[in-house]
Amino acid sequence: MHSIKGESPGKIRPDLRTLLRLITPVFRRYRRRLLIGLLALLGVDFLQLTIPRYLKKGVDALADGSADSHSLLVIGGCILLTAATIAILRFCWRTLIIGFSRRLEKILRNRLFSHILEMDRPFFDRHSTGEIMAHATNDLSAVQMACGMGMVAAADALVMSGAALFFMAHISLSLTLIAIIPMPLLAVCTRILSGKLHKRFDLVQEQFALLTEFARNTMVSIRLIKGYTREQRQIKEFEALGARYVAGNLKVAVIQGLLFPVSTLVGNAGMLLVLYFGGKLVISTTITLGDFVAFITYMYMLIWPMMAVGWVTNLVQRGLTSLTRIYRLLAAEPLLHADVETGTAPQVSSFVFCCRDLHFKYPDGGGNALTGLDLTIGPGVLGVAGRTGSGKSTLCRLLTRQYPVEPGMLFFSGHDVNEYSPAAVRSRISYVSQQPVLFSGTIAENISLADPDASTEEIEQAARLAAVHDEITAMADQYQTRIGERGLRLSGGQKQRIAIARALLADRPVLIIDDALSALDVETEQLVFAGIRTKFQSKTVLIVSHRLKLLSGTDRVIILDQGKIVNQGSHRELLARSSFYQSMAEKQQGRTDA
Ligand SMILES: Nc1ncnc2c1ncn2[C@@H]1O[C@H](COP(=O)(O)OP(=O)(O)O)[C@@H](O)[C@H]1O
Ligand SMILES: [Mg+2]
Repeated sequence: MHSIKGESPGKIRPDLRTLLRLITPVFRRYRRRLLIGLLALLGVDFLQLTIPRYLKKGVDALADGSADSHSLLVIGGCILLTAATIAILRFCWRTLIIGFSRRLEKILRNRLFSHILEMDRPFFDRHSTGEIMAHATNDLSAVQMACGMGMVAAADALVMSGAALFFMAHISLSLTLIAIIPMPLLAVCTRILSGKLHKRFDLVQEQFALLTEFARNTMVSIRLIKGYTREQRQIKEFEALGARYVAGNLKVAVIQGLLFPVSTLVGNAGMLLVLYFGGKLVISTTITLGDFVAFITYMYMLIWPMMAVGWVTNLVQRGLTSLTRIYRLLAAEPLLHADVETGTAPQVSSFVFCCRDLHFKYPDGGGNALTGLDLTIGPGVLGVAGRTGSGKSTLCRLLTRQYPVEPGMLFFSGHDVNEYSPAAVRSRISYVSQQPVLFSGTIAENISLADPDASTEEIEQAARLAAVHDEITAMADQYQTRIGERGLRLSGGQKQRIAIARALLADRPVLIIDDALSALDVETEQLVFAGIRTKFQSKTVLIVSHRLKLLSGTDRVIILDQGKIVNQGSHRELLARSSFYQSMAEKQQGRTDA
């Protein structure tokens, strides 16, 4: 597979061989199943072809007067038996081949899912959730269709048309040549119509995605919508989207409605030719009446394969396009490599981060987010301040190994961070991001994320240290309260403190808090900070904050501006010499004194 580190995976165009390598191992793995399925399919085709022969026998016997009720019954019985065998065989190939395509889909889906979980933050900066979901549903099902129904239809069409043509030519070559004149037209018609059908169907799916995304978005931002009394407008927009969806569906129905009549029309045009010229052959006794009937039945058997040719080329084309998109996702590699030799976490008593002339630029452009940072983050509490956009969060993201760092710029416990796997470093850090992330589940589950086996006491103790225990116990279901999507039922401050409790419970040697106390009032913030100090005594703590009161409780403060450290020292020292710090102090004076 191509390596496309740092490059947009949308650009690569794999050749057919590379693409097929994604699915051929699955074909090989299930080859026995597939073989039996295909044999059953051929069996069905073969048996179907014998039916006209019985018909011919019956009709000929009737025509020359040799038929009696017994011989007719035998012929009828043979047809019935053949039909029953066909039914059984058809069941076999359906379960075997369609079952295979479902398995193939499952294998690709699992691979895609685990691959996506391996990806790092730059990948998710580039691909939206909606986009990934579309790959995981539409593209996978297009591949499944091509490998299931597509394969069946192709094999079926090939065998059926070949055999039907063979038998027809056996009866009369000239009549066969006349009969197939309209057939290519049928293939072309189906190809055009099913191409249109697919295109419109894609459109309908897109419209459906828009509709559901709109509904989802409305539910998620329902407070905002109510707050700005946007309900009526949302309803109108939703109705418009719904109307477009229905209109799209109607267009699909029109084409679907066209497809069958058009193909029957073309088929019947062929029948007209056969009736005229074949009838003449019967009259001149070149062929028997039975031959004539059998010929017509074979001809009907040609209609479906001709339609299938058009349909299958479409299916395969779509399958390949989708497979290309899946390939691109799978070919994307994380910028941070997980398989570094020293995969194990550092085992030392003190965990110290060391930045040496640290420069950093986001993979997707922009200028330097950090420029020449020299900094040691060791045991004790380090405060980080600076205006928005100064690079505080970027520093936290680099320490937690969310973005790649060039060698020689960032060290952890004496080693270049690139010598460790990202997970090895992350597993040593409790990290609370600027926007606290809660998942659907109970409060207890959210707090004990890092340690699902944590006891109730441990969970409660962490919540107490994060000063949120009382508020949780005041809820009806207490720690078993289910938090809806994105924590809709909690206040901003509650979410932040639950995220802090989670970090405290994880109890790792390093704690990084990125401005995650901002929604708390000064007093609660002090309580939480006291809890952090108790739990993380003599450990390595970094807190981003713009609150003077909190910064005054740290051991050292650095001030960032435009990705550089512009000042550092104790709270007192900075009050004396940093103009940024002084202006912050003036603005917050009233509040801190109160
Ligand atoms: N994912 C990203 N991709 C590109 N640029 C980013 C990204 N996140 C932040 N930046 C840029 O990096 C700079 C520092 O941002 P950030 O570290 O979030 O600042 P702070 O946390 O101090 O407010 C800003 O100029 C911001 O626009
Ligand atoms: Mg920030």
